[in-house]
Amino acid sequence: MKKALLIAAALAVPTSAAAAGKLEIFSWWAGDEGPALEALVKLYKQRYPSVAVDNATVSGGAGTNAKAVLKTRMLGGTPPDSFQAHAGQELIGTWVVANRMEDLSGLFRSEGWDKAFPKDLVRLISSKGGIWSVPVNVHRSNVMWYNPARLKSWGVTVPKTWPEFLSTCTKLKAKGVAAPLVVGENWTQQHLWESVAIGTLGAQNWENLWAGKLKFTDPRVVGAFTTFGKVMDCANKDASGLSWQQASDRIISGQSAFNIMGDWAAGYFTTTKKLAPNTGFGWAPSPGTTKTFVMLADSFGLPKGAKNRAEALNWLRVLGSKAGQDAFNPLKGSIAARTDSDLSKYNTYSRSAAADWKSNKIVGSLVHGAVAPESFMSAFGTVIDQFVASRNSAGAAAAAQQLAVRAGIGK
Ligand code: GAL
Repeated sequence: MKKALLIAAALAVPTSAAAAGKLEIFSWWAGDEGPALEALVKLYKQRYPSVAVDNATVSGGAGTNAKAVLKTRMLGGTPPDSFQAHAGQELIGTWVVANRMEDLSGLFRSEGWDKAFPKDLVRLISSKGGIWSVPVNVHRSNVMWYNPARLKSWGVTVPKTWPEFLSTCTKLKAKGVAAPLVVGENWTQQHLWESVAIGTLGAQNWENLWAGKLKFTDPRVVGAFTTFGKVMDCANKDASGLSWQQASDRIISGQSAFNIMGDWAAGYFTTTKKLAPNTGFGWAPSPGTTKTFVMLADSFGLPKGAKNRAEALNWLRVLGSKAGQDAFNPLKGSIAARTDSDLSKYNTYSRSAAADWKSNKIVGSLVHGAVAPESFMSAFGTVIDQFVASRNSAGAAAAAQQLAVRAGIGK
Protein backbone atom coordinates (compact mmCIF):
# COMPACT_ATOMS: atom_id res chain seq x y z
CA MET A 1 0.00 0.00 0.00
CA LYS A 2 2.69 2.39 1.05
CA LYS A 3 4.76 1.49 -2.00
CA ALA A 4 1.78 2.01 -4.31
CA LEU A 5 1.21 5.45 -2.82
CA LEU A 6 4.83 6.38 -3.35
CA ILE A 7 4.67 5.31 -6.96
CA ALA A 8 1.45 7.29 -7.44
CA ALA A 9 3.07 10.34 -5.86
CA ALA A 10 6.11 10.00 -8.11
CA LEU A 11 3.94 9.73 -11.19
CA ALA A 12 1.97 12.79 -10.13
CA VAL A 13 5.07 14.99 -10.19
CA PRO A 14 4.77 17.22 -13.26
CA THR A 15 7.58 16.59 -15.73
CA SER A 16 8.61 20.21 -15.37
CA ALA A 17 9.65 19.73 -11.75
CA ALA A 18 11.33 16.42 -12.45
CA ALA A 19 14.23 17.91 -14.34
CA ALA A 20 17.34 18.59 -12.34
CA GLY A 21 20.86 19.51 -13.20
CA LYS A 22 22.53 22.08 -15.34
CA LEU A 23 22.00 23.89 -18.59
CA GLU A 24 24.45 26.03 -20.50
CA ILE A 25 23.02 28.27 -23.18
CA PHE A 26 25.26 30.32 -25.41
CA SER A 27 24.51 33.56 -27.26
CA TRP A 28 25.71 37.08 -28.00
CA TRP A 29 22.90 38.70 -26.07
CA ALA A 30 24.90 40.42 -23.37
CA GLY A 31 24.45 43.85 -21.76
CA ASP A 32 21.90 45.99 -23.63
CA GLU A 33 20.91 42.92 -25.61
CA GLY A 34 20.29 40.85 -22.49
CA PRO A 35 16.80 41.64 -21.10
CA ALA A 36 14.75 39.60 -23.57
CA LEU A 37 16.88 36.50 -23.07
CA GLU A 38 16.78 36.99 -19.32
CA ALA A 39 12.96 36.97 -19.46
CA LEU A 40 13.14 33.63 -21.23
CA VAL A 41 15.60 32.22 -18.72
CA LYS A 42 13.29 33.36 -15.94
CA LEU A 43 10.43 31.43 -17.49
CA TYR A 44 12.64 28.35 -17.85
CA LYS A 45 13.61 28.62 -14.17
CA GLN A 46 9.95 28.84 -13.16
CA ARG A 47 9.28 25.61 -14.99
CA TYR A 48 12.49 23.82 -14.02
CA PRO A 49 13.49 25.36 -10.70
CA SER A 50 16.12 22.78 -9.88
CA VAL A 51 18.20 23.41 -12.99
CA ALA A 52 21.15 25.77 -12.66
CA VAL A 53 21.27 27.87 -15.81
CA ASP A 54 24.59 29.14 -17.07
CA ASN A 55 23.65 31.99 -19.41
CA ALA A 56 26.96 32.22 -21.25
CA THR A 57 27.34 35.23 -23.52
CA VAL A 58 30.07 36.65 -25.71
CA SER A 59 29.15 40.23 -26.49
CA GLY A 60 29.45 41.83 -29.91
CA GLY A 61 26.68 42.76 -32.33
CA ALA A 62 25.52 40.20 -34.90
CA GLY A 63 27.51 37.54 -33.09
CA THR A 64 30.81 38.44 -34.71
CA ASN A 65 32.77 37.47 -31.57
CA ALA A 66 30.42 34.76 -30.29
CA LYS A 67 30.53 32.79 -33.53
CA ALA A 68 34.32 32.57 -33.36
CA VAL A 69 34.20 31.29 -29.76
CA LEU A 70 31.45 28.84 -30.69
CA LYS A 71 33.61 27.47 -33.48
CA THR A 72 36.49 26.63 -31.16
CA ARG A 73 34.09 24.97 -28.73
CA MET A 74 32.31 22.94 -31.38
CA LEU A 75 35.56 21.82 -32.98
CA GLY A 76 37.12 21.15 -29.58
CA GLY A 77 34.29 18.80 -28.60
CA THR A 78 32.88 21.00 -25.79
CA PRO A 79 29.69 22.42 -27.30
CA PRO A 80 27.31 24.44 -25.14
CA ASP A 81 24.03 22.60 -24.47
CA SER A 82 22.19 24.92 -26.81
CA PHE A 83 23.41 27.90 -28.80
CA GLN A 84 22.04 30.85 -30.74
CA ALA A 85 22.34 30.68 -34.50
CA HIS A 86 20.44 32.36 -37.27
CA ALA A 87 17.75 30.33 -38.92
CA GLY A 88 18.78 29.32 -42.41
CA GLN A 89 22.11 28.91 -44.12
CA GLU A 90 24.24 30.15 -41.23
CA LEU A 91 23.42 27.03 -39.21
CA ILE A 92 22.67 24.64 -42.04
CA GLY A 93 25.67 25.55 -44.20
CA THR A 94 28.02 25.35 -41.23
CA TRP A 95 27.09 22.94 -38.43
CA VAL A 96 24.40 20.86 -40.12
CA VAL A 97 26.53 19.98 -43.14
CA ALA A 98 29.33 19.13 -40.71
CA ASN A 99 26.93 16.68 -39.03
CA ARG A 100 27.25 18.39 -35.64
CA MET A 101 23.56 19.03 -34.91
CA GLU A 102 20.69 16.88 -33.76
CA ASP A 103 17.59 16.66 -35.92
CA LEU A 104 14.69 18.26 -34.04
CA SER A 105 11.86 16.96 -36.26
CA GLY A 106 10.60 14.75 -33.42
CA LEU A 107 10.41 17.73 -31.08
CA PHE A 108 8.56 19.77 -33.70
CA ARG A 109 6.06 16.95 -34.07
CA SER A 110 5.52 16.35 -30.35
CA GLU A 111 5.15 20.08 -29.62
CA GLY A 112 2.83 20.66 -32.57
CA TRP A 113 5.29 23.16 -34.02
CA ASP A 114 4.76 22.09 -37.61
CA LYS A 115 1.50 24.02 -37.26
CA ALA A 116 2.58 26.77 -34.87
CA PHE A 117 5.33 28.18 -37.11
CA PRO A 118 4.82 29.53 -40.64
CA LYS A 119 5.60 26.92 -43.29
CA ASP A 120 8.24 29.08 -45.01
CA LEU A 121 10.10 29.53 -41.75
CA VAL A 122 10.11 25.78 -41.11
CA ARG A 123 11.42 25.34 -44.65
CA LEU A 124 14.24 27.79 -43.88
CA ILE A 125 15.41 25.72 -40.89
CA SER A 126 15.03 22.39 -42.68
CA SER A 127 17.40 20.43 -44.87
CA LYS A 128 18.27 16.83 -45.62
CA GLY A 129 14.90 15.74 -44.19
CA GLY A 130 15.63 17.27 -40.79
CA ILE A 131 14.64 20.40 -38.83
CA TRP A 132 17.69 21.90 -37.17
CA SER A 133 16.75 24.68 -34.78
CA VAL A 134 13.89 26.34 -32.94
CA PRO A 135 13.22 29.95 -33.97
CA VAL A 136 12.46 32.30 -31.10
CA ASN A 137 11.65 35.36 -33.18
CA VAL A 138 11.47 37.13 -36.49
CA HIS A 139 13.52 40.30 -36.88
CA ARG A 140 13.32 42.74 -39.77
CA SER A 141 16.61 43.94 -41.19
CA ASN A 142 15.46 46.66 -43.63
CA VAL A 143 14.41 49.44 -41.30
CA MET A 144 15.43 53.08 -41.39
CA TRP A 145 15.34 54.76 -37.98
CA TYR A 146 15.08 58.46 -37.34
CA ASN A 147 14.28 61.04 -34.72
CA PRO A 148 10.90 62.58 -35.68
CA ALA A 149 11.42 65.90 -33.90
CA ARG A 150 14.84 66.42 -35.47
CA LEU A 151 13.61 65.63 -39.00
CA LYS A 152 10.90 68.22 -38.48
CA SER A 153 13.34 70.84 -37.28
CA TRP A 154 15.59 70.19 -40.29
CA GLY A 155 12.56 70.40 -42.58
CA VAL A 156 13.15 67.05 -44.27
CA THR A 157 10.91 64.04 -44.73
CA VAL A 158 11.72 60.34 -44.84
CA PRO A 159 13.22 59.42 -48.24
CA LYS A 160 11.49 56.55 -50.01
CA THR A 161 14.17 55.66 -52.55
CA TRP A 162 17.98 55.77 -52.52
CA PRO A 163 18.16 58.65 -55.05
CA GLU A 164 15.76 60.57 -52.80
CA PHE A 165 17.95 59.65 -49.83
CA LEU A 166 21.00 61.11 -51.58
CA SER A 167 19.26 64.43 -52.26
CA THR A 168 18.03 64.56 -48.64
CA CYS A 169 21.63 63.94 -47.62
CA THR A 170 22.81 66.93 -49.70
CA LYS A 171 20.11 69.11 -48.11
CA LEU A 172 21.11 68.08 -44.61
CA LYS A 173 24.79 68.67 -45.28
CA ALA A 174 23.92 72.16 -46.49
CA LYS A 175 22.22 72.70 -43.12
CA GLY A 176 25.41 71.77 -41.34
CA VAL A 177 24.66 68.13 -40.52
CA ALA A 178 28.11 66.58 -40.98
CA ALA A 179 26.88 62.98 -41.12
CA PRO A 180 23.22 62.67 -42.22
CA LEU A 181 23.63 58.89 -41.93
CA VAL A 182 25.21 57.09 -39.01
CA VAL A 183 26.83 53.67 -39.41
CA GLY A 184 28.99 51.63 -37.10
CA GLU A 185 31.57 48.85 -37.29
CA ASN A 186 32.05 46.56 -40.31
CA TRP A 187 29.02 44.30 -39.91
CA THR A 188 26.68 47.31 -39.71
CA GLN A 189 28.14 48.49 -43.03
CA GLN A 190 27.40 45.08 -44.53
CA HIS A 191 23.91 45.47 -43.09
CA LEU A 192 23.60 48.82 -44.86
CA TRP A 193 24.91 47.28 -48.09
CA GLU A 194 22.18 44.66 -47.87
CA SER A 195 19.47 47.31 -47.64
CA VAL A 196 21.00 49.34 -50.47
CA ALA A 197 21.30 46.24 -52.66
CA ILE A 198 17.69 45.15 -52.09
CA GLY A 199 16.45 48.72 -52.44
CA THR A 200 18.16 49.14 -55.81
CA LEU A 201 17.93 45.60 -57.25
CA GLY A 202 14.46 44.74 -55.96
CA ALA A 203 13.40 41.69 -53.97
CA GLN A 204 13.28 39.29 -56.90
CA ASN A 205 16.83 40.02 -58.03
CA TRP A 206 18.00 39.65 -54.44
CA GLU A 207 16.54 36.15 -54.41
CA ASN A 208 18.14 35.47 -57.79
CA LEU A 209 21.52 36.47 -56.40
CA TRP A 210 21.35 33.77 -53.69
CA ALA A 211 19.90 31.22 -56.08
CA GLY A 212 22.95 31.73 -58.31
CA LYS A 213 20.76 33.14 -61.09
CA LEU A 214 22.16 36.65 -60.90
CA LYS A 215 25.91 37.16 -60.78
CA PHE A 216 27.56 39.75 -58.57
CA THR A 217 29.37 40.93 -61.68
CA ASP A 218 26.04 41.81 -63.34
CA PRO A 219 26.02 45.58 -64.05
CA ARG A 220 22.98 45.95 -61.77
CA VAL A 221 24.88 44.56 -58.79
CA VAL A 222 27.98 46.59 -59.67
CA GLY A 223 25.62 49.59 -59.70
CA ALA A 224 24.35 48.68 -56.23
CA PHE A 225 27.95 48.89 -54.97
CA THR A 226 28.30 52.33 -56.57
CA THR A 227 25.11 53.53 -54.88
CA PHE A 228 26.35 52.06 -51.61
CA GLY A 229 29.53 54.14 -52.00
CA LYS A 230 27.49 57.33 -52.44
CA VAL A 231 25.39 56.45 -49.41
CA MET A 232 28.58 55.91 -47.39
CA ASP A 233 29.64 59.42 -48.40
CA CYS A 234 26.72 60.62 -46.23
CA ALA A 235 27.99 58.75 -43.20
CA ASN A 236 30.18 59.51 -40.18
CA LYS A 237 33.93 59.07 -40.56
CA ASP A 238 34.39 57.23 -37.25
CA ALA A 239 32.16 54.30 -38.21
CA SER A 240 34.61 51.49 -37.52
CA GLY A 241 34.78 52.42 -33.82
CA LEU A 242 31.03 52.40 -33.18
CA SER A 243 28.85 49.54 -31.97
CA TRP A 244 25.30 49.40 -33.34
CA GLN A 245 24.03 50.80 -30.04
CA GLN A 246 26.40 53.76 -30.25
CA ALA A 247 25.16 54.39 -33.77
CA SER A 248 21.55 54.29 -32.50
CA ASP A 249 22.50 56.78 -29.78
CA ARG A 250 23.32 59.33 -32.47
CA ILE A 251 19.73 59.13 -33.71
CA ILE A 252 18.43 59.76 -30.20
CA SER A 253 20.80 62.70 -29.70
CA GLY A 254 19.99 64.10 -33.14
CA GLN A 255 23.62 64.15 -34.29
CA SER A 256 22.63 62.16 -37.40
CA ALA A 257 19.31 61.93 -39.21
CA PHE A 258 19.14 58.27 -40.30
CA ASN A 259 20.38 54.81 -39.39
CA ILE A 260 19.65 51.55 -41.15
CA MET A 261 19.50 48.73 -38.65
CA GLY A 262 17.48 45.67 -37.78
CA ASP A 263 14.60 46.06 -35.39
CA TRP A 264 16.64 45.04 -32.37
CA ALA A 265 17.12 48.83 -32.49
CA ALA A 266 13.42 49.11 -31.53
CA GLY A 267 14.20 46.86 -28.54
CA TYR A 268 17.10 49.14 -27.63
CA PHE A 269 15.03 52.32 -27.97
CA THR A 270 12.11 50.99 -25.93
CA THR A 271 13.60 48.51 -23.43
CA THR A 272 16.96 50.15 -22.73
CA LYS A 273 16.28 53.80 -23.51
CA LYS A 274 12.59 53.81 -22.52
CA LEU A 275 11.59 55.80 -25.60
CA ALA A 276 8.08 55.64 -27.03
CA PRO A 277 7.54 54.52 -30.64
CA ASN A 278 6.56 57.38 -32.98
CA THR A 279 7.63 60.15 -30.61
CA GLY A 280 10.97 58.98 -29.24
CA PHE A 281 11.93 57.33 -32.49
CA GLY A 282 10.47 56.90 -35.94
CA TRP A 283 10.89 54.17 -38.53
CA ALA A 284 10.21 53.35 -42.17
CA PRO A 285 11.25 50.59 -44.54
CA SER A 286 14.76 51.35 -45.79
CA PRO A 287 14.64 53.28 -49.10
CA GLY A 288 13.36 51.28 -52.05
CA THR A 289 12.08 48.41 -49.91
CA THR A 290 8.46 49.38 -49.22
CA LYS A 291 6.38 46.19 -49.18
CA THR A 292 9.49 44.04 -48.75
CA PHE A 293 10.26 42.47 -45.39
CA VAL A 294 13.88 41.38 -45.14
CA MET A 295 13.70 38.75 -42.44
CA LEU A 296 15.99 36.88 -40.16
CA ALA A 297 15.25 34.68 -37.21
CA ASP A 298 17.28 33.91 -34.13
CA SER A 299 17.07 30.27 -33.27
CA PHE A 300 18.63 27.77 -30.91
CA GLY A 301 19.78 24.31 -31.80
CA LEU A 302 20.94 21.18 -30.04
CA PRO A 303 24.54 20.21 -30.82
CA LYS A 304 25.47 16.56 -30.83
CA GLY A 305 27.33 15.70 -27.63
CA ALA A 306 25.55 18.31 -25.50
CA LYS A 307 26.31 17.44 -21.86
CA ASN A 308 22.82 18.27 -20.61
CA ARG A 309 20.68 17.07 -23.44
CA ALA A 310 17.40 16.65 -21.52
CA GLU A 311 17.67 20.15 -20.04
CA ALA A 312 18.52 21.55 -23.46
CA LEU A 313 15.43 19.95 -24.96
CA ASN A 314 13.33 21.55 -22.24
CA TRP A 315 15.01 24.87 -23.00
CA LEU A 316 13.97 24.49 -26.61
CA ARG A 317 10.42 23.65 -25.47
CA VAL A 318 10.22 26.91 -23.51
CA LEU A 319 11.73 28.86 -26.38
CA GLY A 320 9.23 27.56 -28.90
CA SER A 321 6.21 27.94 -26.61
CA LYS A 322 3.73 30.75 -26.98
CA ALA A 323 4.51 31.95 -23.44
CA GLY A 324 8.24 31.93 -24.20
CA GLN A 325 7.91 33.86 -27.42
CA ASP A 326 5.58 36.42 -25.88
CA ALA A 327 7.97 36.93 -22.95
CA PHE A 328 11.01 37.37 -25.18
CA ASN A 329 9.87 39.35 -28.20
CA PRO A 330 8.14 42.42 -26.73
CA LEU A 331 11.47 43.27 -25.07
CA LYS A 332 13.62 42.36 -28.08
CA GLY A 333 11.99 44.47 -30.80
CA SER A 334 11.22 41.36 -32.83
CA ILE A 335 7.92 39.62 -33.39
CA ALA A 336 7.13 36.05 -32.43
CA ALA A 337 8.01 33.37 -34.95
CA ARG A 338 4.80 31.56 -33.95
CA THR A 339 1.64 32.63 -35.68
CA ASP A 340 -0.51 32.65 -32.51
CA SER A 341 1.26 35.31 -30.45
CA ASP A 342 -0.70 37.78 -28.35
CA LEU A 343 -0.17 41.13 -30.08
CA SER A 344 -1.67 43.06 -27.18
CA LYS A 345 1.66 42.47 -25.43
CA TYR A 346 3.57 44.31 -28.18
CA ASN A 347 4.16 48.00 -28.85
CA THR A 348 3.13 50.03 -31.90
CA TYR A 349 6.39 49.41 -33.70
CA SER A 350 6.15 45.63 -33.34
CA ARG A 351 2.52 45.59 -34.33
CA SER A 352 3.39 47.40 -37.54
CA ALA A 353 6.17 44.85 -38.16
CA ALA A 354 3.69 42.01 -37.53
CA ALA A 355 1.28 43.50 -40.07
CA ASP A 356 4.07 43.87 -42.66
CA TRP A 357 5.27 40.30 -41.99
CA LYS A 358 1.84 39.13 -43.05
CA SER A 359 1.38 41.33 -46.11
CA ASN A 360 4.86 42.01 -47.54
CA LYS A 361 7.10 40.06 -49.87
CA ILE A 362 9.51 38.15 -47.59
CA VAL A 363 13.18 37.76 -48.47
CA GLY A 364 16.10 36.61 -46.32
CA SER A 365 18.91 38.64 -44.81
CA LEU A 366 22.50 37.98 -45.84
CA VAL A 367 24.27 39.50 -42.87
CA HIS A 368 22.08 37.67 -40.38
CA GLY A 369 22.41 34.22 -41.74
CA ALA A 370 19.28 33.48 -43.75
CA VAL A 371 20.55 33.24 -47.32
CA ALA A 372 24.26 32.40 -47.36
CA PRO A 373 26.60 30.15 -45.43
CA GLU A 374 28.95 31.55 -42.83
CA SER A 375 31.91 31.02 -45.18
CA PHE A 376 30.49 33.66 -47.54
CA MET A 377 29.38 36.07 -44.85
CA SER A 378 32.60 36.19 -42.90
CA ALA A 379 34.66 36.80 -46.04
CA PHE A 380 32.18 39.37 -47.38
CA GLY A 381 33.20 41.64 -44.49
CA THR A 382 36.60 42.03 -46.12
CA VAL A 383 35.00 42.85 -49.48
CA ILE A 384 33.06 45.67 -47.81
CA ASP A 385 36.13 46.95 -45.96
CA GLN A 386 38.13 47.04 -49.17
CA PHE A 387 35.30 48.67 -51.07
CA VAL A 388 34.86 51.39 -48.46
CA ALA A 389 38.57 52.17 -48.76
CA SER A 390 38.86 51.89 -52.57
CA ARG A 391 35.34 52.61 -53.92
CA ASN A 392 36.11 50.12 -56.68
CA SER A 393 32.64 48.73 -57.51
CA ALA A 394 33.73 46.35 -60.26
CA GLY A 395 36.54 44.98 -58.07
CA ALA A 396 34.20 44.41 -55.10
CA ALA A 397 31.62 42.73 -57.34
CA ALA A 398 34.24 40.41 -58.82
CA ALA A 399 35.56 39.50 -55.36
CA ALA A 400 32.01 38.79 -54.12
CA GLN A 401 31.34 36.61 -57.14
CA GLN A 402 34.45 34.54 -56.40
CA LEU A 403 33.30 34.08 -52.81
CA ALA A 404 29.84 33.04 -54.01
CA VAL A 405 31.31 30.38 -56.28
CA ARG A 406 33.57 29.11 -53.51
CA ALA A 407 30.67 28.99 -51.02
CA GLY A 408 28.62 26.96 -53.50
CA ILE A 409 25.87 29.58 -53.70
CA GLY A 410 23.18 28.49 -56.12
CA LYS A 411 24.49 24.93 -56.24
C1 GAL B 1 21.57 39.93 -35.04
C2 GAL B 1 20.64 39.12 -34.19
C3 GAL B 1 19.79 40.03 -33.38
C4 GAL B 1 20.64 41.05 -32.65
C5 GAL B 1 21.64 41.70 -33.57
C6 GAL B 1 22.60 42.66 -32.93
O1 GAL B 1 22.40 39.11 -35.80
O2 GAL B 1 19.86 38.32 -34.99
O3 GAL B 1 18.99 39.32 -32.49
O4 GAL B 1 21.24 40.46 -31.57
O5 GAL B 1 22.37 40.73 -34.26
O6 GAL B 1 23.53 42.02 -32.15
